[in-house]
Amino acid sequence: AGHLRVEWAAAEMPVVAALRERFAADRSLEGLRIGACLHVTSETANLLECLRTGGATIALCASNPLSTQDEVAAYLSAQEDIAVYAVRGEDTETYYEHLRRVLEHEPQVVLDDGADLISTLHTERAELAGEVIGGCEETTTGVVRLRSMERDGVLKFPVVAVNEAKSKQYFDNRYGTGQSTIDGILRATNRLLAGRCFVVCGYGFCGRGLALRAHGMGAHVVVCEVDPLKALEAVMEGYRVLPLAQAAEEGDFFVTVTGDVSVIREEHLRVMKDGAVLANSGHFNVEIDLPALEAMAVSRREVRSHVTEYRLADGRRTYLIAQGRLVNLAAGEGHPAAVMDMSFAIQALSVAYLAREGSRLAPAVYPVQPELDAEVARLKLEALGVEIDTLTAEQADYLRSWQQGT
Ligand code: NAI
Repeated sequence: AGHLRVEWAAAEMPVVAALRERFAADRSLEGLRIGACLHVTSETANLLECLRTGGATIALCASNPLSTQDEVAAYLSAQEDIAVYAVRGEDTETYYEHLRRVLEHEPQVVLDDGADLISTLHTERAELAGEVIGGCEETTTGVVRLRSMERDGVLKFPVVAVNEAKSKQYFDNRYGTGQSTIDGILRATNRLLAGRCFVVCGYGFCGRGLALRAHGMGAHVVVCEVDPLKALEAVMEGYRVLPLAQAAEEGDFFVTVTGDVSVIREEHLRVMKDGAVLANSGHFNVEIDLPALEAMAVSRREVRSHVTEYRLADGRRTYLIAQGRLVNLAAGEGHPAAVMDMSFAIQALSVAYLAREGSRLAPAVYPVQPELDAEVARLKLEALGVEIDTLTAEQADYLRSWQQGT
C-alpha cells in the first residue's frame, strides 16, 4: 500500500524525478549521512529516494505526531539506506524519542520542518554539531525559530531557509495549504462551505491561499490580521477584515494559520455560535488556546473521526478538528504532490549545495541561491509543457542600461 502511494505521488513530481536522474549520474551525495525530520508522507518518500540515489544514507522521523502515513513509513523502512522512526498518533515523548534516534545516526546534513530536530541537536546532543555541514528548514515557523537561535548566537552551523524560496512559498504555502486545509476540514466534517462565514486568522502566504479557496467555494470570508499591510491587502482583495473579537460572533468556521500562539482565546470561544468549527493549519498546535477550551467545556466526545465536540455550560457546542494540529496533514493527506515537487526539489538542490559549499559557510540562516529557484521553476514549466518567451538582445541591453529614458 505504501509503495502504491509513493508511486501515485511520483507521477506528479517530475522535477524531483529529473533531479533523481541527475543525482544517479553524478552521485554528488556519496556517503553523506542525512538526518531528516519531515512529515512522513508519500511526497517525502520521493524526496528521500532522490537523495538516496545521489549516494546519501538517511534517517527519518516525523515532524508532527499526527501526520505520518504508516504505510509509507513501512515502505520506506524496507528500503536500503533509509531508517524510519515514526508512527501515526505517537505521543509527545515518543515523538522526541524518535528525534533522538535520528540523531544517533550522527547526521552531516539535517532536514527539518519546524526546527525541532535542530533545536534538540543543540540542546541535547551539542557535541554532534561539529560534524554537521549544514541544515535545511522547510517551514515558516522553523525559520522564525532558527533566526532566533542565530540572534542569540547559539546556532552552530549554516541552515538554508528552504521555506523562503519563491518556488516554495508562492506555491506550497499558498496553493498547497489553501487546497489541503479546505480538504482536511471537508473530509473531517463534510459540511457545506457555500454561504457560510469562514474566518481566516493570518493573511500571510498560507492565509492568502486559504481565503482564496474558501471564497471559491462560496464562503463569506473574513480575515483577521495584526499586520496593517496584510490587512489592507485582504481588504483590497475584497474580503471583510475584522478584529477576531467581532469575527468570533459571526464565524461558522475558524482556521488559524499565523505561526503565532493563543490566537483564538477564551474571550473568543465564549461568544462563538453553536456548532462553530475550529481548525488550525499553522505549524504547532498552540494557535487555539486548547487548555481554555478544555476548561470551559462541561463535556467532550469524539463525534466523528478527527472531530471533538466540546459542550459548554449553556449547551452550545464547539467542534475542534484534529486536536488543533495541522488540519491538512492530520485530517487529510497534506499538500498535493504537484506542489511538494517544487518544495522538495529546492530541498534536494539545497542539500547538494550544502554538500559542496557548507563547510565554507559560517553558522547563520541563508537564503536559497536565487539560481536554484529559477532552475526549479524552469524544470516545472518544462514538465508542464509550458513554453515562455526569452529576452531579445535589444531587450536585455535595454533592461541593463540606465542611459535610455523617454
Ligand atoms: P506568514 O508569515 O507569511 O503569515 C503569517 C501571518 O499571520 C502574518 O501575516 C502575520 O501578520 C499574521 N499573524 C501573526 N499573529 C497573528 C495574530 N495573532 N492574529 C492574526 N494574524 C496574525 O507565514 P505563512 O507562510 O503563511 O505560515 C503560517 C504558518 O503556517 C506557519 O506556522 C507555517 O510554518 C505554517 N505552514 C503550514 C503549512 C501546512 O501544511 N499547513 C504549510 C506551510 C506553512
